[in-house]
Amino acid sequence: MEDTATLRIGNENYNLPMFKGTEGEVAIDTRKLRADTGCVAFDEGYGNTGSCNSNITFINGEKGILRHRGYSIESLAENSNFLETAYLVIYGELPSESQLEEFNKSILGNVAVHEGMKKFYEGFPVNSHPMAILSSLMQALGCYYPEMTTNDRDKDLATFDSAAAVLIAKVISIAATTYRIREGLPVLYPKRGEGYCDNFLHMLYSEPNAFAEIPTEISKALNLILLLHTDHEQNCSTSTVRMVASGGANLFASVSAGVSALWGPSHGGANMAVIKMLNEIHASGDDGSQFLEDAKNGKARLMGFGHRVYKNYDPRAKILKASCEKVLDILNVQTPILEIAKKLESVALEDDYFVKRKLYPNVDFYSGIILQSIGIPLDMFTVIFAIGRMPGWIAHWKELAEGQGRIHRPRQIYTGEILREYSKIATR
Ligand code: CMC
Repeated sequence: MEDTATLRIGNENYNLPMFKGTEGEVAIDTRKLRADTGCVAFDEGYGNTGSCNSNITFINGEKGILRHRGYSIESLAENSNFLETAYLVIYGELPSESQLEEFNKSILGNVAVHEGMKKFYEGFPVNSHPMAILSSLMQALGCYYPEMTTNDRDKDLATFDSAAAVLIAKVISIAATTYRIREGLPVLYPKRGEGYCDNFLHMLYSEPNAFAEIPTEISKALNLILLLHTDHEQNCSTSTVRMVASGGANLFASVSAGVSALWGPSHGGANMAVIKMLNEIHASGDDGSQFLEDAKNGKARLMGFGHRVYKNYDPRAKILKASCEKVLDILNVQTPILEIAKKLESVALEDDYFVKRKLYPNVDFYSGIILQSIGIPLDMFTVIFAIGRMPGWIAHWKELAEGQGRIHRPRQIYTGEILREYSKIATR
């Protein structure tokens, strides 16, 4: 294959360098396009734009492949757990026994937050959305670690390991405290000796005088959900983290922006939207058929379906579908919405509209049903996504910070008014 592409504008030919990724993806390098030709590449929504080189995650959306650092998501889901996968994603290799022990210790010993942080909750109205609280408190958390939030790249990198541990650890305390205060329950401290998910579930569900008995299956299901959300290359929130970091911002500020980006219903908020949709379908007495017609006619959107990159089954959705049936079975939970979800899926997968547009279930289609069955309130679903995505955001911040990249600053095509005279207010 040629290693340059030729672009013809008028009578001029321009050679653009080409290069390949390790999985054979081909890119045309347009970095000098404007300087050489005076034109910019226009790619609203960035569907055709490689914004960086990255070693962290590989996705082949046509084939439904997802790998972290070369390991398939299926093998990680089968053999690993959330914290080990977090280590892999952040540091590039599976940890040795002692590295994993050290990593787990640095996180589990860091879960409790500074007492001063509790004061912030007093200022939030009780009906504040947990994602708004989470985003605010990620920034606030950084204020307790001035040595990790200097915005001096070398200094922030020197304290990176500690900052990463603080964020992964304390995000579960912040999330649990949000829930407890909203429910009028006393805030609980983490429990020494418990694992990551058990500790989170304990802080959510225990009484001050009686520890909740958390069935292993629940803790395992949560662990799997977090693991499946660990990273997903240049999605909206991760690109946001990289964008913010590219200006030199510290890790805490960057992930706070990531939480905000995740909140929207087209991104992480879709897991909430799926349950709302399934409940509404059920309440209306529809078995899903009418809703699918509405989705095809543009009157509704089938939440948890479709993806910018996957034009095949999202491999995470396959794993979660199997887990969902297992968890509901073990917990003996019968819910009509699972039947509606399965019906929507089976009809959509055969329907011309969805087949033609290559719309398949994504990670959010079944995760919400599992979260609901283990007692997570609806408006906390996206918070769970954020907890899972934290290592991914951290890994991308590190990758960007260690590189020599320029500030992210896209161009635009201006389509507004051309120069006009200022008119005095009396004449308008
Ligand atoms: N239901 C009905 N039609 C859809 C859907 C859907 N869920 N998704 C896409 N389409 C249609 C869309 O209307 C368009 O049709 P046409 O070509 O006739 O105009 C076509 O499929 C292509 O869609 P698009 O909007 O150009 O696709 P996109 O890549 O811009 O959007 C998406 C991707 C995920 C935002 C979109 O599929 C969607 O809104 N899905 C529902 C929300 C959702 O589940 N989001 C979670 C994504 S996975 C978790 C994450 O990474 O955050």
